[in-house]
Amino acid sequence: MTSYKLLLLPGDGIGPEVMAEVEKVIGALDALGLARFEIERDLVGGSAIDAHGKPLTDEALARADAADAILLGAVGGPKWADVAYEIRPEAGLLRLRKDLGLFANLRPAICYPALADGSALKRELVEGLDIMIVRELTGGVYFGEPKEITTLPDGSKRAVDTQVYTTAEIERIAHVAFDLARKRSGRVASAEKHNVMKSGVLWKEVVTKVHADYSDVTLEHVLADNCAMQLVRRPKQYDVLVTDNLFGDVLSDVAAMLTGSLGMLPSASLGAVDAKGSRKALYEPVHGSAPDIAGKGYANPIAMIGSLAMCLRYSFGLGEAADLLDSAVTRTLASGARTRDIAAEGTTPISTSEMGDAIIRELKHAA
Ligand code: NAI
Ligand code: MG
Repeated sequence: MTSYKLLLLPGDGIGPEVMAEVEKVIGALDALGLARFEIERDLVGGSAIDAHGKPLTDEALARADAADAILLGAVGGPKWADVAYEIRPEAGLLRLRKDLGLFANLRPAICYPALADGSALKRELVEGLDIMIVRELTGGVYFGEPKEITTLPDGSKRAVDTQVYTTAEIERIAHVAFDLARKRSGRVASAEKHNVMKSGVLWKEVVTKVHADYSDVTLEHVLADNCAMQLVRRPKQYDVLVTDNLFGDVLSDVAAMLTGSLGMLPSASLGAVDAKGSRKALYEPVHGSAPDIAGKGYANPIAMIGSLAMCLRYSFGLGEAADLLDSAVTRTLASGARTRDIAAEGTTPISTSEMGDAIIRELKHAA
């Protein structure tokens, strides 16, 4: 069996706690003969600042570059609130994304039947929800230049952020969305604001052009603000939703709240496919380091474990193992196992490691 080189970057706060559960799952996958990994570990974020004075060392970046895939926990926390902006914990994650060219951020929002009552919306609106948000991750207003705050003659200030997109950047993210839709329900919605933004005009134009190669997929254009409303009004109308960096940040957080808990949501960040057919990829939960619950055994490991399932599927073509892992999570939830974030009032939640153990039990049952 092929052994894949996996770099684990647990990070800060609950990052190491949820990563410990993934390591247990990796051990179980190996024991079951479903997947084999060569594991390396390194530091990122605050833990790297403590050890090396910066949130990502060149050595860690080189390791990430050499790995077949990267799993990251979470970075940041109040302990590093006062470090310089350039070396804050989040800068380590941004450097990884930028330097590895991880331009496509996939954020599935899935509502498990067992958790539909925890959603911000009524059960009938979200039960069976399964949206894939495809967010452009390395362009747009978070990176465009100029980006500055200047002082005007009268002493007041002027702040500038710049939204920039090129045809090539839009084309490659559109391809990711259409390719995904082919394996799903065959529907793509593209969100922008061509009514008030030049970058939106180009976005719509390029996505429409790319769509010509995908006659088996339907394309709908939606204004991003209307999309936010639709996500809350009738979310199941969407399957694959492709959008830029800023709108994707906001819309994926809206979608997250439809599913019940931040602790449930995995993500993948993918680079371009190279000549050998492989691509750089980083998988991480959507949530942060949750300093409010760190060290207490309260953290829900499902987002992190779901990120491993995405890794199996998208980096290694191990769709069967990924399905087994995903269905182990579904059955664990159906059995009533709940960490604190998803437990109903008055019920007794289980710990992070008990949830990991329960999922592994279900995995062994099914395999
Ligand atoms: P957060 O996602 O860490 O926490 C938000 C709320 O959700 C908290 O109440 C937390 O307890 C809860 N929560 C999050 N994940 C959970 C899990 N797995 N199980 C149970 N409950 C969970 O976001 P917040 O509080 O805004 O940020 C905390 C720190 O994390 C900050 O330093 C922030 O910069 C960083 N952060 C890092 C991210 C990353 O590494 N990708 C993403 C978001 C925030
Ligand atoms: Mg966000």
